[in-house]
Amino acid sequence: MTSVVIPQPDDWHVHLRNDEMLDAVVGYTARRFRYAMVMPNLLPPIVSTESAAHYRDQILAAAPNDAPDFSPVMAVYCSPLVDPNDLRAGIEQGVIAAVKYYPAGATTNSELGGTSLNDFAHLFEVLIATGSRLLVHAEATDPSIDIFDREAAFLTDQLAPLCDRFPELAVTVEHVSTRAGVDFVAAHPQAAATITPHHLARERSDLLANGMKPDLYCKPVINSADDRNALVTAATSGNPDFMLGTDSAPHPTTAKYGPTAKAGVFNAAYGLEVVADVFSVAGALDNLGAFVSGNGCAIYGVDTPETTITLTSESVDVEVATSLATTSGDEVVLFGAEEATRWTVT
Ligand code: DOR
Ligand code: ZN
Repeated sequence: MTSVVIPQPDDWHVHLRNDEMLDAVVGYTARRFRYAMVMPNLLPPIVSTESAAHYRDQILAAAPNDAPDFSPVMAVYCSPLVDPNDLRAGIEQGVIAAVKYYPAGATTNSELGGTSLNDFAHLFEVLIATGSRLLVHAEATDPSIDIFDREAAFLTDQLAPLCDRFPELAVTVEHVSTRAGVDFVAAHPQAAATITPHHLARERSDLLANGMKPDLYCKPVINSADDRNALVTAATSGNPDFMLGTDSAPHPTTAKYGPTAKAGVFNAAYGLEVVADVFSVAGALDNLGAFVSGNGCAIYGVDTPETTITLTSESVDVEVATSLATTSGDEVVLFGAEEATRWTVT
């Protein structure tokens, strides 16, 4: 038996959706995590202080009563609809913590996103003035670029010039998925990155080699074994620039199984077990607390938690749920059920 006690984790990148999907998924995040950086790619998107505050209220109303430490942290969608004065006011009121940039067309509900980071300098100036962060979905959308090269292309062509132009802008490269992404963070002191459980634990052969797995399809796509090794090294080494962001992104099976699959892996349920498994295999459980708690607290300037959780690995096989159902009967598959048979969280 292996057991590790760590500070209560934070999830610095999560999709909680709205309406009945919010009701179905929020408990998984709220019962495990303290801070959760909630993504704004709803329809309509979260683009103002008012909509961020309203969405935060909806999330808290939907959250279970037995999760008193849960605190949603709100990001607004980088788009022409964001008013810089409202952004500044929202940040100063403590309603808005960050701005999230999506390249238009890169992923779910990204149609309102940008075609160039350069178009949003007026918002980045507010972020610099208030000490807030720009969160970036770093993926080129040029169809002539191979899907597995799109993170590297975006970082080189768009984010590197932006970092040069605004060296004081704090940037989080979200769900970093490649060695190029890890190297980018190492080369840019203003950059940090989130890493997901699925990019740490799976590689593209898992997605494609033995029957294509829609449940592993996400954006950015899970990449090569070499890329995964780079992510595992970055996460398990204790490097303070890397933190957990699950990118938990629920889609009903009706949207996953068919001629095309929506991008997203729902891992709020077992993401911690998956990450613990990765750290255990790497012999790095001593650094697990830094990755899931300490590093993110330092990056986002929040207090470290007083509460702890215990992860225990036992060789007893237990039955775990493999899906959830929304009130109208939609099914969402839970990523990491296999790891969840090996680990318990208390
Ligand atoms: O796989 C993904 N799903 N990547 C994203 O960037 C968005 C997310 C979603 O909202 O479904
Ligand atoms: Zn996301």
